[in-house]
Amino acid sequence: MKTIIIYVLARRAAPPLPIMMLHIPGVLTPEQVTYFRQRLAAAEWIDGRASVGAQGAQVKRNRQIAEGTPLARELGDLIIHALTKNPLFYSAALPRKILPPYFNSYAGGETYGLHIDGAIRHLVGTADLMRSDVSTTVFLSDPEEYEGGELTVMDSYGAHEVKLPAGDAIVYPSSSVHRVNPVTAGERVASFLWTQSMVRDDWQRTMLFELDQNIQKLRGQHGDSEAMVGVAGHYHNLLRMWAEL
Ligand code: NI
Repeated sequence: MKTIIIYVLARRAAPPLPIMMLHIPGVLTPEQVTYFRQRLAAAEWIDGRASVGAQGAQVKRNRQIAEGTPLARELGDLIIHALTKNPLFYSAALPRKILPPYFNSYAGGETYGLHIDGAIRHLVGTADLMRSDVSTTVFLSDPEEYEGGELTVMDSYGAHEVKLPAGDAIVYPSSSVHRVNPVTAGERVASFLWTQSMVRDDWQRTMLFELDQNIQKLRGQHGDSEAMVGVAGHYHNLLRMWAEL
Protein backbone atom coordinates (compact mmCIF):
# COMPACT_ATOMS: atom_id res chain seq x y z
CA MET A 1 0.00 0.00 0.00
CA LYS A 2 2.86 2.32 0.97
CA THR A 3 4.53 1.68 -2.39
CA ILE A 4 1.40 2.71 -4.27
CA ILE A 5 1.18 6.00 -2.36
CA ILE A 6 4.83 6.80 -3.06
CA TYR A 7 4.29 5.96 -6.73
CA VAL A 8 1.29 8.31 -6.98
CA LEU A 9 3.18 11.16 -5.32
CA ALA A 10 6.16 10.61 -7.61
CA ARG A 11 3.89 10.71 -10.64
CA ARG A 12 2.35 13.97 -9.45
CA ALA A 13 5.76 15.54 -8.87
CA ALA A 14 6.99 14.55 -12.37
CA PRO A 15 7.72 17.50 -14.68
CA PRO A 16 5.80 17.80 -17.95
CA LEU A 17 6.86 15.50 -20.81
CA PRO A 18 9.36 16.66 -23.42
CA ILE A 19 7.59 18.65 -26.08
CA MET A 20 8.16 19.49 -29.70
CA MET A 21 9.13 23.09 -30.40
CA LEU A 22 9.52 23.81 -34.09
CA HIS A 23 11.31 26.84 -35.54
CA ILE A 24 9.83 27.87 -38.91
CA PRO A 25 12.07 30.42 -40.66
CA GLY A 26 10.78 33.05 -43.09
CA VAL A 27 7.02 32.76 -42.53
CA LEU A 28 6.80 36.46 -43.47
CA THR A 29 9.07 38.15 -46.03
CA PRO A 30 11.20 41.16 -44.93
CA GLU A 31 8.83 43.38 -46.96
CA GLN A 32 5.82 41.98 -45.10
CA VAL A 33 7.56 42.52 -41.73
CA THR A 34 8.21 46.19 -42.66
CA TYR A 35 4.55 46.61 -43.67
CA PHE A 36 3.31 45.02 -40.41
CA ARG A 37 5.61 47.21 -38.31
CA GLN A 38 4.48 50.40 -40.09
CA ARG A 39 0.80 49.58 -39.64
CA LEU A 40 1.26 48.51 -36.00
CA ALA A 41 3.33 51.62 -35.13
CA ALA A 42 0.32 53.78 -36.02
CA ALA A 43 -2.24 51.51 -34.29
CA GLU A 44 -4.15 51.90 -31.03
CA TRP A 45 -2.90 49.50 -28.34
CA ILE A 46 -4.99 48.30 -25.37
CA ASP A 47 -4.21 46.51 -22.09
CA GLY A 48 -3.27 42.85 -22.80
CA ARG A 49 -5.42 41.68 -19.89
CA ALA A 50 -8.52 42.17 -22.11
CA SER A 51 -8.18 38.61 -23.46
CA VAL A 52 -7.22 36.48 -20.43
CA GLY A 53 -8.82 34.79 -17.43
CA ALA A 54 -8.15 35.47 -13.74
CA GLN A 55 -4.80 33.62 -13.52
CA GLY A 56 -3.48 35.24 -16.69
CA ALA A 57 -4.56 38.70 -15.55
CA GLN A 58 -2.32 38.39 -12.49
CA VAL A 59 0.84 37.78 -14.53
CA LYS A 60 0.19 39.46 -17.92
CA ARG A 61 1.61 42.95 -18.43
CA ASN A 62 1.70 43.96 -22.09
CA ARG A 63 -0.32 45.74 -24.74
CA GLN A 64 -2.25 44.31 -27.68
CA ILE A 65 -4.43 45.31 -30.63
CA ALA A 66 -8.13 44.90 -29.77
CA GLU A 67 -9.70 41.69 -31.12
CA GLY A 68 -11.81 42.00 -34.26
CA THR A 69 -10.63 45.48 -35.31
CA PRO A 70 -10.14 45.98 -39.09
CA LEU A 71 -6.34 46.18 -38.60
CA ALA A 72 -6.19 42.97 -36.51
CA ARG A 73 -8.31 41.22 -39.17
CA GLU A 74 -6.26 42.46 -42.13
CA LEU A 75 -2.86 41.60 -40.64
CA GLY A 76 -4.22 38.41 -39.09
CA ASP A 77 -5.44 37.17 -42.48
CA LEU A 78 -1.96 37.77 -43.94
CA ILE A 79 -0.41 35.67 -41.14
CA ILE A 80 -2.95 32.83 -41.55
CA HIS A 81 -2.40 32.84 -45.33
CA ALA A 82 1.40 32.69 -44.89
CA LEU A 83 1.21 29.90 -42.32
CA THR A 84 -1.33 27.67 -44.08
CA LYS A 85 0.73 27.62 -47.29
CA ASN A 86 3.90 26.82 -45.28
CA PRO A 87 4.54 23.03 -45.58
CA LEU A 88 6.41 22.81 -42.23
CA PHE A 89 3.58 24.54 -40.32
CA TYR A 90 0.96 22.39 -42.03
CA SER A 91 2.83 19.16 -41.25
CA ALA A 92 3.49 20.13 -37.61
CA ALA A 93 0.11 21.67 -36.72
CA LEU A 94 -2.28 19.73 -39.00
CA PRO A 95 -4.66 22.70 -38.65
CA ARG A 96 -8.42 22.21 -38.37
CA LYS A 97 -9.34 25.73 -37.15
CA ILE A 98 -7.14 28.78 -36.61
CA LEU A 99 -8.20 31.53 -34.20
CA PRO A 100 -7.67 35.07 -35.61
CA PRO A 101 -4.09 36.08 -34.64
CA TYR A 102 -3.35 38.52 -31.82
CA PHE A 103 -0.72 41.27 -31.97
CA ASN A 104 1.17 42.20 -28.84
CA SER A 105 3.90 44.56 -27.71
CA TYR A 106 6.22 44.51 -24.70
CA ALA A 107 8.43 47.43 -23.58
CA GLY A 108 9.56 49.15 -20.37
CA GLY A 109 9.82 45.94 -18.30
CA GLU A 110 6.51 44.45 -19.55
CA THR A 111 6.27 40.67 -19.20
CA TYR A 112 3.88 37.72 -19.27
CA GLY A 113 4.66 35.54 -16.24
CA LEU A 114 4.40 31.76 -16.04
CA HIS A 115 1.00 30.53 -17.26
CA ILE A 116 -0.82 27.95 -19.34
CA ASP A 117 -3.13 28.97 -22.19
CA GLY A 118 -6.85 28.35 -21.72
CA ALA A 119 -7.97 25.10 -23.39
CA ILE A 120 -11.14 26.46 -24.98
CA ARG A 121 -11.26 29.71 -26.95
CA HIS A 122 -14.29 31.62 -28.12
CA LEU A 123 -14.30 32.81 -31.74
CA VAL A 124 -15.07 36.52 -31.43
CA GLY A 125 -18.32 37.63 -33.05
CA THR A 126 -19.68 34.07 -33.28
CA ALA A 127 -21.09 31.38 -30.98
CA ASP A 128 -18.27 29.03 -32.04
CA LEU A 129 -15.79 27.48 -29.65
CA MET A 130 -12.46 25.90 -30.48
CA ARG A 131 -9.78 23.97 -28.58
CA SER A 132 -6.25 25.37 -28.38
CA ASP A 133 -3.85 22.53 -29.34
CA VAL A 134 -0.94 24.35 -30.99
CA SER A 135 0.44 27.79 -30.11
CA THR A 136 2.40 29.86 -32.63
CA THR A 137 4.39 33.05 -32.08
CA VAL A 138 5.50 35.01 -35.18
CA PHE A 139 8.28 37.43 -34.27
CA LEU A 140 7.94 40.92 -35.79
CA SER A 141 10.95 42.55 -34.05
CA ASP A 142 14.53 41.45 -34.64
CA PRO A 143 16.43 40.18 -31.55
CA GLU A 144 18.81 43.18 -31.65
CA GLU A 145 15.88 45.58 -31.17
CA TYR A 146 15.22 44.63 -27.53
CA GLU A 147 16.71 43.17 -24.35
CA GLY A 148 15.01 40.21 -22.63
CA GLY A 149 11.61 39.18 -24.01
CA GLU A 150 12.54 35.51 -24.58
CA LEU A 151 9.57 33.16 -24.96
CA THR A 152 10.40 30.50 -22.36
CA VAL A 153 8.70 27.09 -22.62
CA MET A 154 9.04 24.41 -19.90
CA ASP A 155 9.31 20.65 -20.26
CA SER A 156 11.05 17.76 -18.51
CA TYR A 157 14.44 18.93 -19.87
CA GLY A 158 14.01 22.37 -18.29
CA ALA A 159 13.30 25.82 -19.71
CA HIS A 160 13.77 26.52 -23.45
CA GLU A 161 14.33 30.17 -24.36
CA VAL A 162 13.33 31.35 -27.82
CA LYS A 163 14.12 34.65 -29.51
CA LEU A 164 13.93 34.57 -33.31
CA PRO A 165 14.55 36.92 -36.25
CA ALA A 166 11.59 39.03 -37.43
CA GLY A 167 9.41 36.99 -39.81
CA ASP A 168 10.27 33.64 -38.17
CA ALA A 169 7.81 31.57 -36.12
CA ILE A 170 7.98 29.10 -33.24
CA VAL A 171 5.33 26.39 -32.87
CA TYR A 172 4.78 24.62 -29.52
CA PRO A 173 1.99 22.70 -27.78
CA SER A 174 -0.67 24.86 -26.10
CA SER A 175 -0.56 22.36 -23.22
CA SER A 176 2.90 23.66 -22.18
CA VAL A 177 3.65 26.02 -19.29
CA HIS A 178 5.43 29.12 -20.61
CA ARG A 179 6.23 32.80 -20.06
CA VAL A 180 7.62 35.87 -21.83
CA ASN A 181 10.59 37.33 -19.93
CA PRO A 182 10.53 41.06 -19.09
CA VAL A 183 11.57 43.36 -21.95
CA THR A 184 14.09 45.61 -20.23
CA ALA A 185 15.07 47.77 -23.25
CA GLY A 186 13.59 48.44 -26.70
CA GLU A 187 10.28 46.99 -27.91
CA ARG A 188 9.24 43.43 -28.73
CA VAL A 189 6.35 43.23 -31.23
CA ALA A 190 4.94 39.83 -32.15
CA SER A 191 1.89 38.04 -33.44
CA PHE A 192 0.41 35.10 -31.61
CA LEU A 193 -2.21 32.54 -32.57
CA TRP A 194 -3.89 29.32 -31.51
CA THR A 195 -4.69 26.38 -33.77
CA GLN A 196 -7.09 23.53 -33.19
CA SER A 197 -5.38 20.55 -34.76
CA MET A 198 -7.02 17.62 -36.52
CA VAL A 199 -4.91 15.53 -34.09
CA ARG A 200 -5.47 16.67 -30.50
CA ASP A 201 -2.80 14.53 -28.80
CA ASP A 202 0.63 16.23 -28.72
CA TRP A 203 2.55 12.97 -28.94
CA GLN A 204 0.50 11.53 -31.83
CA ARG A 205 0.88 14.85 -33.71
CA THR A 206 4.65 14.82 -33.08
CA MET A 207 4.97 11.24 -34.37
CA LEU A 208 3.03 12.13 -37.54
CA PHE A 209 5.26 15.16 -38.09
CA GLU A 210 8.46 13.13 -37.73
CA LEU A 211 7.13 10.39 -40.01
CA ASP A 212 6.12 12.94 -42.65
CA GLN A 213 9.48 14.73 -42.53
CA ASN A 214 11.38 11.46 -42.93
CA ILE A 215 9.14 10.38 -45.81
CA GLN A 216 9.95 13.70 -47.57
CA LYS A 217 13.70 13.12 -47.03
CA LEU A 218 13.61 9.52 -48.27
CA ARG A 219 11.55 10.57 -51.31
CA GLY A 220 14.22 13.16 -52.14
CA GLN A 221 16.97 10.55 -51.85
CA HIS A 222 15.33 7.50 -53.45
CA GLY A 223 12.27 8.69 -55.37
CA ASP A 224 8.88 7.00 -55.16
CA SER A 225 9.67 3.29 -54.83
CA GLU A 226 6.93 0.77 -54.04
CA ALA A 227 8.19 0.68 -50.41
CA MET A 228 7.96 4.49 -50.21
CA VAL A 229 4.35 4.39 -51.39
CA GLY A 230 3.70 1.83 -48.64
CA VAL A 231 5.26 4.02 -45.93
CA ALA A 232 3.35 7.09 -47.19
CA GLY A 233 0.19 4.98 -47.05
CA HIS A 234 1.02 4.13 -43.43
CA TYR A 235 1.21 7.88 -42.62
CA HIS A 236 -2.21 8.47 -44.14
CA ASN A 237 -3.73 5.48 -42.39
CA LEU A 238 -2.46 6.76 -39.01
CA LEU A 239 -3.88 10.20 -39.84
CA ARG A 240 -7.19 8.54 -40.79
CA MET A 241 -7.18 6.74 -37.42
CA TRP A 242 -6.37 9.81 -35.31
CA ALA A 243 -7.84 12.82 -37.14
CA GLU A 244 -11.04 14.48 -35.89
CA LEU A 245 -12.87 16.64 -38.45
NI1 NI B 1 0.47 31.95 -23.38
